[in-house]
This record gives sequence, structure tokens and C-alpha cells, in this order.
Amino acid sequence: MPRTEFISTGLYVPERTLTNDDLRQWWDTSDEWIRERTGIETRHWVKPGEQAGSDLALEAARSALDRAGMQPKELDCIIYATLSPDYCFPGGGVYLQRKLGVPGIPALDIRNQCTGFIYGLSVADAWIRTGQYRRVLLVGAEVHSTGMDFTPAGRDISVLFGDGAGAAILGPTEDEGRGVLSTHLWADGRHAEQLWCEVETSARYPRVSHQDLDEGRQYAIMNGREVFKHAVTKMPQSVRTALEVNGLSEADVKLLIAHQANLRINEMVQRQLGLRDDQVYNNIQRYGNTTAATIPIAIHECAASGRLQRGDLLVLTAFGSGFTWGSAAVRW
Ligand code: COA
Repeated sequence: MPRTEFISTGLYVPERTLTNDDLRQWWDTSDEWIRERTGIETRHWVKPGEQAGSDLALEAARSALDRAGMQPKELDCIIYATLSPDYCFPGGGVYLQRKLGVPGIPALDIRNQCTGFIYGLSVADAWIRTGQYRRVLLVGAEVHSTGMDFTPAGRDISVLFGDGAGAAILGPTEDEGRGVLSTHLWADGRHAEQLWCEVETSARYPRVSHQDLDEGRQYAIMNGREVFKHAVTKMPQSVRTALEVNGLSEADVKLLIAHQANLRINEMVQRQLGLRDDQVYNNIQRYGNTTAATIPIAIHECAASGRLQRGDLLVLTAFGSGFTWGSAAVRW
């Protein structure tokens, strides 16, 4: 059976860049508070009404296609991971497919928040190894900025998130020992309301009421400390599983790319795994948390800059709303 390799990658973030100080026009916050607690320095936001998530996904996909020297018509399938689809339905995948101009090929949406890219990678890997599809476009794309609470109540969450997209084109390799070695997925719905968005909801009628809007229930809410506590436990566990299953150890890791939710979380993950600084990559400083896009954006930066070389062991881990978490081991 072949393994799944990354044929190419791409990224796209909107041009509009906001510093921590820029956020003070809406919230009582400070550069110092945001940097100290999260490591974030800047983030990119769309200009509302000008770009949707599928537009960001399109640019990231085009960049990956260009790097592979491929045309969209060579794709067999699209997997689109997002918690911020352009519309409630249909999913973002069909809009991306339409914008790429490839009617007919399947477009699957993945709704696993910050773990979306790893869930998508697991599905793509199974399809590719079994021969169902040979060229899979896997995208993580988010627009958070249009869903933010710009009242004072929104400051704890809104300063964390950015917009962006990352893409990977995946396909089979017969090259012994290379490619995706394994993927590992978990979920624990007992914690669903620790980081969630209640409205709109099909659980009652009407799905959105005026009262909901007046009370701000359309905005995400988060129990930051609870998320933090679980993230710093589950991500190291997931990395150890990925290593053990493949008979590898922390010393074998060339690069760990963890979901970019908070630099402090990732520093704790690194410490628990006993990894050196040169074994981890973080870029949350520039992008904030772009949810399903953080991992493919980081992979692209490492691949494009030469930080990832053929044969390197890349380990991915993510944790997020759901709770969902996961990991993957990849021989680049
Ligand atoms: N600017 C300034 N002050 C802020 C603020 C902001 N943007 N947001 C909250 N505060 C205030 C709070 O009101 C609180 O004030 P008080 O002590 O007077 O009540 C104080 O800062 C501390 O708030 P707290 O929520 O306890 O901070 P924290 O140390 O837990 O850090 C997070 C908050 C969000 C940075 C942290 O909990 C975290 O990163 N959690 C994980 C989040 C995450 O990873 N989410 C995505 C998962 S995929």
C-alpha cells in the first residue's frame, strides 16, 4: 500500500494587518497583556464584505497548485476544514470547488475546529492509501474577524484570533518509509460548551431570536483556563502516542508543529516533551489563532524556507473546541 506524501503546500492571509495596539480602538486591552499571555503580536483580518473564507482558501490552494506545477483539473477531491464556513450551508468546500473551476469532484467539509486539519489529513490519508483518490487538496481556512464581539465583553476572545488559510496537496508515494506514518484522533464532547458558539442553533425555534442578538449569543465564548489546562495535557499525550506507535522517540523529532492557539501553551508542550527550541516551530506571533489554518500555514512556512527537508520527521498536534485533539507523524 502506498503512503501519503505532501506534494506541495501554500498559504494566504489577508493584507489587512492589526497590531495589538490597533485593537485598543475597540477594547480595553494592551500590547503587554496580549503578548505576555499569548505571544501574539499581530494578526490579519479581512475587510468585511470583501473576502470570505473560501476566497482565502482559494488563494492558498492556488499557491499550493503553483508550487506543484499542477492545474486545478488534476485534483480528485477537496477537503475543507473550517469552523467559519461562508454560509451555514452548503459547506465551504463547494464554494472553493466552484472558485477553482472544477465542477464534479467531491468536496468534503470537516467541522473539527482547531483539530480540523489533522482530522482532514487522516481522511485524506485513508483515501489515498486505499486508492480512492490520488490528488487531494486539503485546506484549512478561517474568517474569525467578522464573527467577533466588538463590545467590551468580547476582549478576552477577540484578541486571540486571526483570519487565514493554509493548503496542502496530498498524493501517494511508493518511496519506502516516507509520507504520513500515522494519524491519531480523539474527541470528548463532555467539554463542548467550554469553547463554543451557541447561536444560531437548530435545537430550538427560532434559530436566532432578537433576544439572542441583544444578549450577544451569536459570539463565541470560552473558558480560557479550562481550555488551557486540557490543551497542555492532551497535546503532549497525542505526540507521545504518534511517536510510540512508530517506534520513535522525542529525540527523533526534527520538527514539532503544534496548533497555534497560545505561545504559552506551546512552550509548556515543548517543555513536557523535552524538545529543544530548534525542534519546534511557532508563528502565532504574526497570525494569532487561525484555527484550522494554523498547522498548514506553519507547514508551508517551514517547507518554503527549507526548515523541513526530505526525510525529516515532522510531528503535528492540535487541540481545540469539542474538545477535539489529534496528532500525526510524517516522514517529509
Ligand atoms: N486585555 C486585557 N485584559 C484582559 C483581556 C484583554 N484582552 N481579556 C481578559 N482580560 C482580563 C480579565 O478580565 C481578567 O481581569 P480580572 O483579573 O480583573 O478579572 C484578567 O485579564 C485575567 O483574565 P483571565 O481570563 O484569568 O486570563 P488568563 O491568564 O486565563 O489568560 C487566556 C486568558 C485566554 C489568554 C488564556 O486563558 C488562554 O490562552 N487559554 C487558552 C485559550 C485557547 O487556547 N483557546 C483556543 C483553543 S483552540
